[in-house]
Amino acid sequence: MKLNNQIIYQIYPKSFKDTNGDGIGDLPGIISQLDTLSHLGIDYLWLSPIMRSPQRDNGYDIADYYHIDPMFGSDEDYFRLIQEANKRGIKIMMDLVLNHVSTEHEWFKRACEGDPYYQDFFIWRKRPNELKSLFGGSAWEYVPQLDMYYFHNFDVHQADLNYANEHVRQEIYRMINYWIKQGVEGFRLDVIDLIGKDVDTGELSCTPKFYEYLQELHENTFQNHYLTVGECWEATPQQAMKICNGKGLTQVFHFNHLTLTHHGSKWNQKKLELHKLASILETWQNEYQGIEAIVMNNHDLPRLLSLWLDDQKYRKESAMLLAMLFGMLRGNLYIYQGEEYGMTSAHFTRIDQYRDIETINYYHEQLKQGVCESDILEVLAKISRDNGRVPMQFMNTLGHGFTSTTPWISFIQGGEDIYPDQTDCQVIYQMYQKIIQYRKDFEQELEHPIHFHVQDDILSFTRGTYHGVFNFSDHVYPLPEVGEVIFHNYLDTAKYLRAYEAYIYQK
Ligand code: GLC
Ligand code: CA
Repeated sequence: MKLNNQIIYQIYPKSFKDTNGDGIGDLPGIISQLDTLSHLGIDYLWLSPIMRSPQRDNGYDIADYYHIDPMFGSDEDYFRLIQEANKRGIKIMMDLVLNHVSTEHEWFKRACEGDPYYQDFFIWRKRPNELKSLFGGSAWEYVPQLDMYYFHNFDVHQADLNYANEHVRQEIYRMINYWIKQGVEGFRLDVIDLIGKDVDTGELSCTPKFYEYLQELHENTFQNHYLTVGECWEATPQQAMKICNGKGLTQVFHFNHLTLTHHGSKWNQKKLELHKLASILETWQNEYQGIEAIVMNNHDLPRLLSLWLDDQKYRKESAMLLAMLFGMLRGNLYIYQGEEYGMTSAHFTRIDQYRDIETINYYHEQLKQGVCESDILEVLAKISRDNGRVPMQFMNTLGHGFTSTTPWISFIQGGEDIYPDQTDCQVIYQMYQKIIQYRKDFEQELEHPIHFHVQDDILSFTRGTYHGVFNFSDHVYPLPEVGEVIFHNYLDTAKYLRAYEAYIYQK
């Protein structure tokens, strides 16, 4: 199976397409769009979790690994999706949340009822230490009837599994092999770097135990037969190499280029520094020997086009600039739903528009600390994960072709005209199609090392005979001699490099 130079399209099922009028996207909705997706030229469809879940963290809190949540449809709908996708040459990638389960999972319920076998599935201490949950507050929660605290790296309803317990590992292998048998051919492993954590020393990510568990997981399940991608937020190229050494995963999401603007935390952003971006891209492209996962958007991120560029006046140009830049990077290209027609961040203005637990926790914590509401809302409008979680818009009607009723989360505020048939959106879409085709036709061109150069607001690169020039600002700059134009994000040409203008050309 070919695992490199693949195109993976991520769907956030809750917000993709609703067919039964409950305001929530569902599996029949995804099936109804398969033809359109196959026209884009994708190889894999990655769905964020659809297993049974109380949805505290939108499905990343799984209560039953073996069944589809009725909200999304039935198990049969999922089997049908696999089949229908396969008919169109598309493989299904499943999101595996292995680090933790919902506190409504049978294992956790039994643990709390005092069953020692299941108690050892989780991490308990008599006394909590200072570790904090990534979603705010302590990472420990007291269970009175046991007089102990359990560890939760994320929300209090997401209890971390104890991988030191062999029974936990065996249960996980059994589950993955079940889905392999059903025809799943790819896996995205949620926060996988955390499974070997040591809560006493506070070493959580990429511990020696993690590499041990990963190899065992590999041997007992997917081996190298399926495309696997692990979420490892801060992975260095060296760590990625260790994770993807032939006995682990195919690739990792490292996000180094996206955390670049974090100032202390993601809530505090600094200006994008192009030379730093260039250096990260270059290091990964040239020094990393594995298959890089190329990502600009996902369900945890605001839209990159809104964060880095101009999503209003120059939305079309900005969306295409990013597609051209990331599209010329070697590896597997991940596209997040709506990216292909330039969806922007949500631009919410009120707290009641948000649904994300992390966002809501942050809002209350900040209020408590005395930060004024309008300042908090401004940060959320930029950074909240809900920015990327708003429903798809298929047409310019009341429910945008997403739903016939009120959606579970509002549409982009002021984004009524963002839908595939709108002219600018069509142009962006066609650029994606062209780039995807180009990557298939000229795969070997991406094998050349890439060299970046930055001057003022201009990022440029050379890769073999290819050159790229990208204006990351609305200032006008002199235009280099561009040779034969391969991709360009304006419909006409000018003597200058205009706002957010970008060229890929050959010399
Ligand atoms: C990952 C997911 C995110 C989720 C978290 C906890 O980062 O992408 O959405 O909240 O893990 O499962
Ligand atoms: Ca529905």
